[in-house]
Amino acid sequence: PAGADRDEHGVLRVGGIPATELRDRFGTPLYLLDEDDVRAHARRTLAAFRSAAAAHGVQARVYYAGKAFLSTEVVRWVTEEGLAVDVCTGGELAIALAAGADPSRLGFHGNNKSVAELERAVEIGIGSIVIDSLIELERLAAIVERRDAQQAVLIRVNSGVHAETHDFLATAHEDQKFGFTLEDAPAAVARIREIDGLVFVGLHCHIGSQIFGSAGFRESAARVVELHAALLAGGDIPVLNLGGGFGIAYRPEDDPTPIEELATGIADAVAQECAVRGIPVPNLAFEPGRAIVGQAGVTLYEVGTTKPVQVDETLTRLYVSVDGGMSDNARPALYGARYSARIASRTSDADPALVRVVGKHCESGDIVVDAEHLPGDIAPGDLVAVPATGAYCFSLSSNYNYVPRPPVVALRGGEARVIVRGETVEDLLARDAGLTPTPTEGK
Ligand code: LLP
Repeated sequence: PAGADRDEHGVLRVGGIPATELRDRFGTPLYLLDEDDVRAHARRTLAAFRSAAAAHGVQARVYYAGKAFLSTEVVRWVTEEGLAVDVCTGGELAIALAAGADPSRLGFHGNNKSVAELERAVEIGIGSIVIDSLIELERLAAIVERRDAQQAVLIRVNSGVHAETHDFLATAHEDQKFGFTLEDAPAAVARIREIDGLVFVGLHCHIGSQIFGSAGFRESAARVVELHAALLAGGDIPVLNLGGGFGIAYRPEDDPTPIEELATGIADAVAQECAVRGIPVPNLAFEPGRAIVGQAGVTLYEVGTTKPVQVDETLTRLYVSVDGGMSDNARPALYGARYSARIASRTSDADPALVRVVGKHCESGDIVVDAEHLPGDIAPGDLVAVPATGAYCFSLSSNYNYVPRPPVVALRGGEARVIVRGETVEDLLARDAGLTPTPTEGK
């Protein structure tokens, strides 16, 4: 994050604080999240989309996609910076509400929201619900009728654009679980418009995640505007939600399109298609997650063991095992995601070695950083920092092998504070019903 440099002993500072001090205070592994950086990305993203929309005389709302990283503190930071929040389960909704988020500025997504989740969302007066299927449409219709409520809804459509990203992250091609096809959407909208308690406010589309170029977004926007235009015959449609998915740099060589350029490209594509069809430009909504928190995170690990492996005649790989792994960052194992690493606790003049940073879990796919050149004298006790771990690491974390989840420490103005405490062995035992009395009751 901003302000990462080294002190006079060569110790990497994160958010102005030496990594060794952070280790001494909070232990490792440790998730660090730079609050100023999250806020700066939130402000920059909001400004980018607002000005891109304003160029066409409309407004833009930016929802922070909470799935990237959600805690009450982060909800407060982004809402203070003017963002709305998007949730996709009852659990995420509960966190957002616990943080004091204004329900009317929450959006609710998901392809299989339960009746209880929908019920709760309507009950608290959620701003909008994105309907994903006909079954859900009827479920929600029954709920609003029973409660005599009015609920703003969008429907999620598949624009059919295959984003250039990992297959598991691409969501708008046809053969997947989310949303309505462009062909099926009109009947769903017609049905919504028949129901007194449902207010159709617009279409929603999300083509995937960690996308670098703007072409896919522009193409998708144009296709969705075509549908939006056709649906105007049945009544006004105030918004068009184009989802999230804006890519970030994980490694120095990564080169995503700047958010300002993406925002302008997308808004221009919408406006151009509207002009062709002779319709007013709708207000726009976006749902960035990764772009807000990804680069604000750093994970700190301690090296436990190292092992050189002669891969072939010319290549030696040094395996560096750290005290976390796929339980705190599942992304390399899930998506082949590539991170970078550096030694945080000291500098070294040793010749660089080809290093693979691996975790402590019982699988060979438990990789943190697949390939990095680090000083060849890296040794047990060294601290390793892995940047850009703010998105989808904490939120995808697990207790695999009964490894406790690390704490999350927020950094701001040279101060550090725990915003999510780390798990203890007691936490790990707490749900095991085979223990009588349970460890907590026994005390
Ligand atoms: N809106 C919808 C409807 C989404 O499904 C997502 C992400 C977002 C917004 C936010 O996307 P973002 O701006 O963060 O790219 N676990 C994967 C990413 C899964 C994304 C799921 N949906 C990863 O670690 O890369």
